[in-house]
Amino acid sequence: MGRAHGSRKKAGRPPQSNMAAVDPDTATLDPDMATEVEELFSKRRTFTKPSSEEWLLPDPNEVLTHPQQQHPELQSLKASLNAVKSRLSDQDLSEWQWHTGSTNRAGKVIAALRSAANAEICTQAWCKFYEILGTFPLLPEAAAAAGALNTVHLCEAPGAFVSALNHYTQTSEATRYWDWAWAASTLNPYHEGNGGHATVADDRLIANTLPWWSFGSDNTGDLTSLKNLLQLQGFVAHMPRVDLVTADGSFDCLEAPDEQEALVASLVLCEAAAGLLLLSSGGALVLKMFTLYEHSSVCLLYLLNCCFSSVSVFKPATSKAGNSEVYVVGRGHYGKDAARPLVAKLLRSYGPGMADGPALFPAALIPASYLRQHLEVCSYFHARQVATITENLSLFPVMSAEQRGRLERLRDLTAQQYLLRFRVGSSLAMHTPFGPAGPRLTPRMFERSCKSSLFSSV
Ligand SMILES: C[S@@+](CC[C@H](N)C(=O)[O-])C[C@H]1O[C@@H](n2cnc3c(N)ncnc32)[C@H](O)[C@@H]1O
Repeated sequence: MGRAHGSRKKAGRPPQSNMAAVDPDTATLDPDMATEVEELFSKRRTFTKPSSEEWLLPDPNEVLTHPQQQHPELQSLKASLNAVKSRLSDQDLSEWQWHTGSTNRAGKVIAALRSAANAEICTQAWCKFYEILGTFPLLPEAAAAAGALNTVHLCEAPGAFVSALNHYTQTSEATRYWDWAWAASTLNPYHEGNGGHATVADDRLIANTLPWWSFGSDNTGDLTSLKNLLQLQGFVAHMPRVDLVTADGSFDCLEAPDEQEALVASLVLCEAAAGLLLLSSGGALVLKMFTLYEHSSVCLLYLLNCCFSSVSVFKPATSKAGNSEVYVVGRGHYGKDAARPLVAKLLRSYGPGMADGPALFPAALIPASYLRQHLEVCSYFHARQVATITENLSLFPVMSAEQRGRLERLRDLTAQQYLLRFRVGSSLAMHTPFGPAGPRLTPRMFERSCKSSLFSSV
């Protein structure tokens, strides 16, 4: 891969002005509604490190050698959440999904974005990542100083994070003329061995940007394979620094929804290890996680706190409030040197069952001051998720006209607020992720029949 891969050169395009978002008439706004919308965009907790140097990287010799240990207070949060979720098992799935879609405060954001901002691959993932970009200063100073940004996107099909970042950098005066190089990896939708259930059907971006994607040495794109990770490391070796790694991996856990966190734990740990391996000093990591009740999550969040100057747990307004999904945002990576022996140890156990064996760290090495904050973070998100599920249950199956009217007003306000807060500019004539002034994506959903010819063209 040459320097040109995933690279966007400074181009002399006429400046664009950001679209002016409509300001809701706050003067006439019911204060309860204003508070509710404000809270929706503020679901975030940031760890505060003690001034004494108490939160230190554990000795690599202690890594992945001790048994897993449960934390009773976190396990009671898990039991209480699962008890609330079990009340959903009597509901008809399609009716319930329609209902929760109609109560979702952010349910009108995608439509608002499509008409106002001309966003490409405008999915829920697009909205979430744009919101993350608008909430945290993710692009490091080193990128600003160099006028160049290098990003790697893990578990990225169909590619909406890439598209959102493209839109974000292109519609901001500060970043529009930066060189942007990106690379992505994901389960390969064209590989026979990857069942359709594991991959994403929408291949519009992948098909048009294949050289930017790494599917690893076995061509599956499975990030939990060490060989594939090392191949990805080589694939991005042309980048002088890696400023941002996103990791949005997940898969269907419908067979055991109560154990979603444990089921995805190994994939999440692999994504975090990949981030630590790839990121440069000062870089940022955005990692999707779910509940944080198991020892594996306690250890991982502690590790990230030892590797980044700031770690936040964030639930975007555009992530459905009743699910467990959160994004962990680590900023100010301390650099590879400090964590190198530990990351080397992680890579020795790297694989699809990585979180199923010995614990990342023994419980005795996790400081009590850290555990207290971890519990507070979990309690905060638990309370919000339970409140949403309980409200959805109470409004199902009938809603009064007054309740419906209030909800619709909230949904309109949330969409307006989204455009306003994140200053989503129109992307008319923007660079597409696959080249300056390239053609806009033409919708072409994945078809098995065309996969061989597409893939052989790489
Ligand atoms: C929620 S989607 C990611 C959405 C993406 N960020 C976007 O913006 O469009 C989760 C992705 O994780 C991928 N995935 C799941 N397990 C994986 C694995 N073991 N290796 C690589 N990708 C994986 C899925 O195929 C899917 O593309």
